[in-house]
Amino acid sequence: MRIAIIGSGGREHALLWKLKQSPSVEDLICVPGNPGTERLATNVAISISNHQAIVDILRQYNIDLVVIGPEAPLVDGLADRIREAGIRCFGPGKQAARIEGSKAFAKEFMRRHNIPTADFNIFTRGDFYEAVRYLDELPMPVVIKASGLAAGKGVLICNEREEARDVVRAMLQGDTFKEAGSTIVIEEFLIGEEVSIFALCDGNRFVTLPPAQDHKKLLDGDKGKNTGGMGAYAPAPIATNEIIKYVKEKVLTPTVKGLKERGEPFIGCLYAGLILTESGMKLLEYNCRFGDPEAQVVLPLIDDDLAEILYECADGRISRDEVNFHDASAVCVVMASGGYPGEYKTGKKIDGLHSIKEDDGVVVFHAGTKREGDSIVTAGGRVLGVTAIGYKDDLEGTIRTAYRAVEKITFDGAYYRSDIGAKAVRSWK
Ligand code: AMP
Ligand code: GLY
Repeated sequence: MRIAIIGSGGREHALLWKLKQSPSVEDLICVPGNPGTERLATNVAISISNHQAIVDILRQYNIDLVVIGPEAPLVDGLADRIREAGIRCFGPGKQAARIEGSKAFAKEFMRRHNIPTADFNIFTRGDFYEAVRYLDELPMPVVIKASGLAAGKGVLICNEREEARDVVRAMLQGDTFKEAGSTIVIEEFLIGEEVSIFALCDGNRFVTLPPAQDHKKLLDGDKGKNTGGMGAYAPAPIATNEIIKYVKEKVLTPTVKGLKERGEPFIGCLYAGLILTESGMKLLEYNCRFGDPEAQVVLPLIDDDLAEILYECADGRISRDEVNFHDASAVCVVMASGGYPGEYKTGKKIDGLHSIKEDDGVVVFHAGTKREGDSIVTAGGRVLGVTAIGYKDDLEGTIRTAYRAVEKITFDGAYYRSDIGAKAVRSWK
């Protein structure tokens, strides 16, 4: 099988690393890829927003299956375009991708299908006074979300009523978040631990992967600004078998069924971003693709032919009820550029990559890197995902292995959290 991966981050590197192990894989290409994916696949340097050029390349390489990593091309309809060209694609079409591309669509869908979620209302331009009235009904804090894609920056948690009104005014009457913020969701603030569950879907049925926990905040102790994710571990013990069963029944099954009934079947990775509150598990959000960095810890746990599973999904015929997993745990520590998620410098030389050996149970997934002559330099906010794989019942040991590797890698201004996975270790004791 000849597979193309679309994207250039840690998630795409992790997908290639796993697919490379599949006996059914003959050839791999990555569009556009990064210096990490280059060692596993042929990188093809074209923009992921140029859909025609992508289809041409897929034909040129005689590709059997395409896996789309990031949300933007999915929301833009790249998967439809690829399927129209007669090529199998693991990734939802534009309509189904709205579960991530439009938070208003996602929340209305959840309400219609009785999927447990935070109480909410939706407002658009012109609804400012209605929105303020709703804000006055809700206890503080309150959550305000721009409906459209906002690169992880569109969710604001306000502690004061006055502040919440200002945010709503800026979105609905000003142009914060531009078009993405012209429709907003105002919702109840939920308290609890978060966990992500991925379902690989064929439009009709799905199989789940082990639960993972991301660390969205910049600083230790879940403090500071929100980021794309500073690290992750899997499996997350907080999601017990009972909880996973509940999520399958109350979240994943109605979602896949509901989308199919709309004539917008979901083929791809359905990401349920969940929160375990005192009154049970609730769905915070959907993503229409693998999470990053969660993919970097979930994919290494798979003890099955991933290429075959993704191919079957894309073909609309998953043949198994479950995926097999290694008896292992995985921990990913993200090394970021100082200043991220705000402004940061790039072009800093990365040292120590060669001292990390896969045989020692560590893989370094590249996210924001670039080749410059013989060196690898930083080229993004999240630079590397240093991922350790260890025994399932020794998460503490896996965490130690990850940090030992992190300490061997240096670049000017490198920043990482020092408590990835600590919450799970605490909850076990
Ligand atoms: P979303 O993109 O909707 O997942 O929001 C991003 C992050 O904001 C989530 O991972 C949560 O940490 C936080 N968040 C979103 N909605 C809520 C909510 N209703 N209550 C508490 N935190 C939330
Ligand atoms: N790690 C969260 C995301 O991929 O959206």
